[in-house]
Amino acid sequence: MLGRFSGFSRLAITRSAATTLAHPLSSTSPRFIASTAMSASITIPSPFDAHVHLRQGNMMKLVTPHVEQGGIKMAFVMPNLIPPLTVPEHTFAYVKELQAVAPNLHILPSLYLTNQLTPEHIRQAKAGGIVGVKSYPRGVTTNSEGGVGMEGYAVYDEVFAEMEKQDMVLNLHGEVPSDVDGDGTCVLNAEERFLPHLREINRKFPKLRIVLEHCTTAAAVECVKSLPSNVVATITPHHLALTIDGACSTSLGFCKPLAKFPSDRNALRAVVREGNPNFFLGSDSAPHPSSSKLPALQVAQVKGADGSTEEEITLPSPCAAGIYTSSNLIPLTAEIFERSDIPLERMQGFCSKFGRDFYGFPAEDGEEVTIKRVEGKKVEKAFKYQTDKGEDEYIIPFMAGDKIGWEIVA
Ligand code: NCD
Ligand code: ZN
Repeated sequence: MLGRFSGFSRLAITRSAATTLAHPLSSTSPRFIASTAMSASITIPSPFDAHVHLRQGNMMKLVTPHVEQGGIKMAFVMPNLIPPLTVPEHTFAYVKELQAVAPNLHILPSLYLTNQLTPEHIRQAKAGGIVGVKSYPRGVTTNSEGGVGMEGYAVYDEVFAEMEKQDMVLNLHGEVPSDVDGDGTCVLNAEERFLPHLREINRKFPKLRIVLEHCTTAAAVECVKSLPSNVVATITPHHLALTIDGACSTSLGFCKPLAKFPSDRNALRAVVREGNPNFFLGSDSAPHPSSSKLPALQVAQVKGADGSTEEEITLPSPCAAGIYTSSNLIPLTAEIFERSDIPLERMQGFCSKFGRDFYGFPAEDGEEVTIKRVEGKKVEKAFKYQTDKGEDEYIIPFMAGDKIGWEIVA
């Protein structure tokens, strides 16, 4: 399975060739062996996932408990539902549903930015405990039709001004919609072309706290580094692992924003390696049923006009964007840190402190999560569930069927 995700395939070979080291994948990095050979376990104070999709209905019932099973105590939950959470009452009702399923998970709720949102909504949201407002570029990703299109971000100035006043967080999906026949925007440059919008919003609203979600490019890392510390970015484990090759070789590696060039992945790894507090974990764990991730050709036998049997072919629909990581997020992150030559000492900051400091929810005592080294634990191949229509479906996690060297200490 590793071979599916480019960039990991070379490491997979190293793994089987060097089984005697403390961790076989570390064999390419002497500095790394020194730092990790000693750590048989890591304890993280109250891990925080700053970007997760928990969905609705039966899928929500399956994946919401996975967040805690993956080692997370607090989660910033995305609003791109059907219909999206466009007014505070929608979010309040959704939080109740989530809490019924996972009463011990600390949920940070969000609102979906549309041109219907008013400063009054922002005040209601703040009063009701909503933490952030998520902006989606229109048509770019799952359930983003109500998002920001070619009109740009200036139309939201009043809303942003009120958010700045109320000290709410603006969560930006940092891509502009493709315009391949016009200005040449496409999925590979969509994030870089978004960065002027980020700079402009920060210039107009200098105190507004902003998260550039799931950044994937060296340009985005440089941009966030150049801005004040109220502008931060989340990074997903899968973007520390994948490059464009992995995103193109299987639809299981397809997510928005797409994984980019090796040089971009290096920039993400470097900023995490240096322990920059303005970059922290947001998994963007985004489950989809396998029929949407791996859509198949449908062939039906139908009767032709002359009474003979014919095959009727239905072509597959486009594949859904999103990678699922909630079910083992903290062990998976440790595994990917090791494969990325990021010292495990960086786990505490990246998975807890930096994000918690930014959102203003310090870790509480008694919520520590410990992971320990194991010989090699297989990631589930798929999680089965019944859709709300009663059909059997599967969610396939990232690195499904692969072995990882960490597990949570119960
Ligand atoms: C997310 C989803 O499926 O909700 N998909 C994704 O590829 N990341 C939406 C998003 O965060 O873009
Ligand atoms: Zn997302």
